Amino acid sequence: MQVAVVGSGYVGLVAAACLAEIGHSAVCIDNDSEKIRALQRGEAVIHEEYLPVLLERHGGRRLHFTTSLADGVRSSSIIFVAVGTPPSETGDADVSSLESVCVEIARHAEGSQLIVVKSTVPAGTNQWIRRVLHRNNGNGHRFDVASNPEFLREGTAVTDFLYPDRIVLGCDTETGAALLNELYRPLLDGSYAAGDEAVPVPDCAVLPARAIVTSSASAELIKQASNAYLAMKISFINAVANICEAGDADIEEVVEGIGSDRRIGSRFLKPGIGYGGSCFPKDLLSFRAVSRELGYDFRMLDEVMRINEDQRRRFVGKVRRALWTLKGKRLAVLGLAFKGGTDDVRESPAIAVIRSLLHEGCEIAAYDPAATARARTAFDPKAAIRFVESAYDAAQGADALLVLTEWEEFAALDLQRLRAQMRHAIVVDGRNVFSPESMAKAGFQYISTGRSEKMQDAHNVIQSTDAAA
Ligand code: UGA
Repeated sequence: MQVAVVGSGYVGLVAAACLAEIGHSAVCIDNDSEKIRALQRGEAVIHEEYLPVLLERHGGRRLHFTTSLADGVRSSSIIFVAVGTPPSETGDADVSSLESVCVEIARHAEGSQLIVVKSTVPAGTNQWIRRVLHRNNGNGHRFDVASNPEFLREGTAVTDFLYPDRIVLGCDTETGAALLNELYRPLLDGSYAAGDEAVPVPDCAVLPARAIVTSSASAELIKQASNAYLAMKISFINAVANICEAGDADIEEVVEGIGSDRRIGSRFLKPGIGYGGSCFPKDLLSFRAVSRELGYDFRMLDEVMRINEDQRRRFVGKVRRALWTLKGKRLAVLGLAFKGGTDDVRESPAIAVIRSLLHEGCEIAAYDPAATARARTAFDPKAAIRFVESAYDAAQGADALLVLTEWEEFAALDLQRLRAQMRHAIVVDGRNVFSPESMAKAGFQYISTGRSEKMQDAHNVIQSTDAAA
């Protein structure tokens, strides 16, 4: 099938590349000419596993990039819209880019086309899109509109797209549903996964993918409610972690215990400094605003957001308690991205924590495996922060080391080498990347998430007794 994807952000770009991968001809359209030129040269523009492979495999053949909406749209039977819907000042999602793209599509369309909304949008958006297409449709074309929300995560975007838990097809007509079923057929019948060249199937994938056909209104709500539920899980476990810190329980043991109840599940129960990224913070605000507009006061969402903000403040409090005063202290920071496996720093809790520490007068040496270039632009060039090339460089002369992003490579660091670089062997771990036992063994004062400082002291005593024996 010939498909157009308008918007080349995480969702649009990955969708276009994956649609080419499962056998379609895809054209990805964006008004950022610099980005389009880079993509035409085969550059992946975002840090995402397997994306370079797909660009190499399909670029210039089944996958094309253009700034011309008219060219892209004219030749396609399905047009995906995956433009950004950033939060406005009131918390509502700003859907003005979506509206302008639909106006353009209506002007340039040819024949009958299916417009598919992939951007995360407030409930009710599809109705508006229908109206906009109708109002601007001077040529009498037939449009069908569907909602096909995307559930991919940054860092695992390609495998999430190709091996999804479910594909939600929000279609109000049978023809729309039939067209989208046909488009996703290689994922729904397992034929893509069975191919020799398929991107490797992740361990937890359920094959083949399942299609859930709903109305467009239900599909919009499924997306917003899914993100809100996941954010709620994170805030819930962070609140439980705070109770653990106040008592004698260990959050990692508690998570194992509650997560093994299949009704709850162990995923998305990782405590830390809170969720960030371009989705959860914005989508929660938007869902809150939509609920209010529909006459329901969804106050649970306020609490989810409040706990999330509070986690950052609590982390800075832990650093202060470990060092007494903060002014002039030299801190090593590991992690700038909003989570491991990505170079994205949008709404990164790590950046928020660093800003607070800079405000308190700390001097920071920061290391991130992928996000340094993007993080640099988030700070005033005169701020007391240096970006270094390795965790060991960051640790050089540090009064304490802080872990702010859950990168796998941090867990594999040589702890003795790290300790040898530091002025004081203190680690404050906002993501529980290390174990209390290994940190105590390496001689660190270790402050983690969801364990009382008293409990950590007990580990240190056991280690020193073992060493003396
Ligand atoms: C999220 C959803 O997981 C995707 O399903 C959705 O498609 C996407 O938003 C979107 O709406 O576009 P993403 O923002 O890439 O994906 O990242 P997540 O893996 O969900 O992580 C979000 C944040 O939560 C990160 O800051 C992460 O560190 C934090 N997190 C996640 C925790 O603190 N604990 C956890 O257990 C899981």
